[in-house]
Amino acid sequence: MKVLAIESSCDETAAAVIEDGRVPRSSVVASQVDLHAKYGGVVPEVASRQHLRNLVPVITEALAAAALTLDGIDAVAGTKGPGLAGSLLVGYNAAKAIAFGRDLPFIGINHLEGHIYANWLVEGPEPQFPALCLVVSGGHTDLVFMRSHGQYERLGGTRDDAAGEAFDKVGRLLGLPFPGGPHVARAALEGGPTKLHLPRAWMHGTFDFSFSGLKTAALHAVREEQHRVEDLAWEFQEAVVDVLAGKTSRLARELGARNVLVAGGVAANLRLREELQRRCPVPVRIPPPKFCTDNAAMIGAVAGHRLALGERSPLEEDIFTTNNWARV
Ligand code: KG4
Ligand code: ZN
Repeated sequence: MKVLAIESSCDETAAAVIEDGRVPRSSVVASQVDLHAKYGGVVPEVASRQHLRNLVPVITEALAAAALTLDGIDAVAGTKGPGLAGSLLVGYNAAKAIAFGRDLPFIGINHLEGHIYANWLVEGPEPQFPALCLVVSGGHTDLVFMRSHGQYERLGGTRDDAAGEAFDKVGRLLGLPFPGGPHVARAALEGGPTKLHLPRAWMHGTFDFSFSGLKTAALHAVREEQHRVEDLAWEFQEAVVDVLAGKTSRLARELGARNVLVAGGVAANLRLREELQRRCPVPVRIPPPKFCTDNAAMIGAVAGHRLALGERSPLEEDIFTTNNWARV
């Protein structure tokens, strides 16, 4: 079954054709990064207007790259939430309109579930259940236990900033371009340990995270002007990676998980990938970077699984904007 999937929850306009929930026949992403860089963050109104411009060309390109027309598509999927309302509406309504116009099955997909299912786009054996999922993106930092397809139990998450948000804010403090994550990671390659020890919020007794104290400590360190940007980037990245890898590996051990599945934009971070692989007691699966950051292939992967189970979404259903695992 070939699914045309559309994703527009934040600032990437994306479309993909996915076969049987596992094989990406095409995946096209139009990034708006340059457009938002001058504001130092995503401007929702600018993002939704840009989705309107990008969407049709991106869908056309995704079909062409898969050597298909709409005649060869069996179902349509769209990201339903969470995300920016104005952004979601563009992609979700386009997906519904295509399904309606072509009389095709339609399904709305949770963006966070999409990030997790990026792990099904990787060649080779499927992930094994039960799995512990670490979802780390610009808007989310969640530890979620997955007993089988579609069954999620959120066991911990951030109480303040998401990991990617912390990377982006610290990147800005360090004078690096937006989005901070990849730039902090790149600067850290040239950095190393200092006498400064940035704090780790272990939140003992819980599997929650907190990055706001670390961000404040980074702010003070920047103001002191005692350290090179590269070294501060290194120290910051180590502090985030230490807590994420430390808590994930401990929870995986406690739960007897068979796999750790990493998902979301921050999963593109090489230090995080390395440290999770080193510390976790079971195989760690991390999608290639192009499927870690926002894309539509991951939405098509979930859609393939859900459609095969007979699930459909009514065209009357609308988007949702808040982070809510109960809606997965
Ligand atoms: O999943 P994503 O593309 O969008 C959301 O759903 O939020 O994640 C974007 C986030 C941004 O905060 C970005 O800075 C971060 O992922 N990111 C990284 C890296 N690449 C992207 N953070 C750290 N290291 C990276 N290499
Ligand atoms: Zn995302």
